[in-house]
Amino acid sequence: MPNAWGRSIVGDARETSLGALGDLPAEDLRAQLHRMADWVADYKATIGDRVISPSVAPGKIAEQLRAAGWEHSAPLEQILGEFDEVVMPGILHWGHPAFLGYFGSTSNGPALLGEIAAAALNVSAMTWRTSPAATEMETITLEWIRDLIGLPDDLFGVVYDTASIATLHALAAARERSGGEIRKRGLAGRDDLPTYRIYASDQAHSSVKKSAIVLGIGEGNVVSVKTDSAFRMDVRTLREEIDADVRAGHRPLAVVATVGTTSTGSVDPIPEIGELCASQGIWLHIDAAYGGALGALEEGRWVMAGTESADSIVVNPHKWLFVPLDFSALYTRHPETLRSVFSLVPEYLRGDAARSGEVDYMDYGIQLGRRFRALKAWMVLRSFGRAGIVSRLREHLRLAQLFASWIDADPSFALAAPVTMGIVCFRYQPDGATGDEVNALNENIVERVNAVGRTYLTHTRLNGTVAMRIGLGNVLTTEEHLAEAWQVIRMESRRQG
Ligand SMILES: Cc1ncc(COP(=O)(O)O)c(C=O)c1O
Repeated sequence: MPNAWGRSIVGDARETSLGALGDLPAEDLRAQLHRMADWVADYKATIGDRVISPSVAPGKIAEQLRAAGWEHSAPLEQILGEFDEVVMPGILHWGHPAFLGYFGSTSNGPALLGEIAAAALNVSAMTWRTSPAATEMETITLEWIRDLIGLPDDLFGVVYDTASIATLHALAAARERSGGEIRKRGLAGRDDLPTYRIYASDQAHSSVKKSAIVLGIGEGNVVSVKTDSAFRMDVRTLREEIDADVRAGHRPLAVVATVGTTSTGSVDPIPEIGELCASQGIWLHIDAAYGGALGALEEGRWVMAGTESADSIVVNPHKWLFVPLDFSALYTRHPETLRSVFSLVPEYLRGDAARSGEVDYMDYGIQLGRRFRALKAWMVLRSFGRAGIVSRLREHLRLAQLFASWIDADPSFALAAPVTMGIVCFRYQPDGATGDEVNALNENIVERVNAVGRTYLTHTRLNGTVAMRIGLGNVLTTEEHLAEAWQVIRMESRRQG
């Protein structure tokens, strides 16, 4: 039977296989690339018609992959046929324009082309010499993003895969700055060090705790600071927590403030937090993974207020600046501190290590081999341009407000948080339903809506109560997609009770 690769899986006379040595012959590769190009173009063209969530039993895909085996070289047509028949039915279509889970999806044509070229080049941007173009393009894309979102231009940037890793690096730098020669002497077996404390709001991302785990600070030493009614860090409580820790002999190491929290997109009061950190010599790290993008808009620039006092800030272009996973930018005003933690040049790399005018990004992180991530970001920035990015962000804000207005207009639903970014949290609360019932109802609705496959939501918990949540990030999402999502949500809600 012909599959999407235009070939029968079995019994074709001319099969493209690899020999015992070497790669695909150039002409075979060209032919397969053309087929792949068609497949990708077809996938992108029809993505909006697909059922978003797969209905596959756990283990089924692995079972089929295992059964196909790998001991003997298989023809590419067969492998790609298996991709189509085994893998594709297990794909959750993040790029579907009505996929509204998490922060939506940011894939797009220019980025895809950049990814293809990066995969073909397969260079490693560890030092300038091992990859001059990848290194300098990383520098330039970081400058453009910094400028786009309104960060001070004295900040040094570096690209990592994710915000979790960026935060880990920032907090490692904070730990090093606090003294104690931890890079050299470690933490274990020492009685000359205080207990380190990190402060983040009760809405902060779990990556802060993960960093504390990895850095030997301990999850239990991340102080969860309460938030106000709009889910912003309460600065008075932060001050009290810090004072109490200082009295107890602990060392306040860092405050992680959030611009665009995961659940609601709330923004902590950075100027006040910055003042407090500066007065006590505490490292201020800002997690602007999602919300930093808003700084690109004149009307969104307020989110950057106070960032001039930050020691480090992370922004994820893979969340809301239309660069596909993965691409996370960390900016810091202390590149030398970051470098002092992570630079370690083994003998075999010395010949390629930086000379004057060169930057070796390997010196600013744990990772040595580094993908050419900047290429896809450069493609997006160049092809959308500042104006294109700004108008797409603005459209997402408009859509979020529109969706919020539909919720406001329906008495069975209520907004669960203020809408400041492309995130809307809401709740179905029919007359007479009590707390636990409302929670169960909302959890069930998310599950039911996702099972329908025409849209995709996630849930969150705010002040102990379950809420449904949509996040916008896909350039393909239109008012029609939202209207359809809203229709499915209403229909499934009424079915639940
Ligand atoms: C505010 C915030 N920070 C950090 C992260 C972690 O991002 P990443 O997946 O890039 O590690 C997320 C993910 O959703 C987030 O919402």
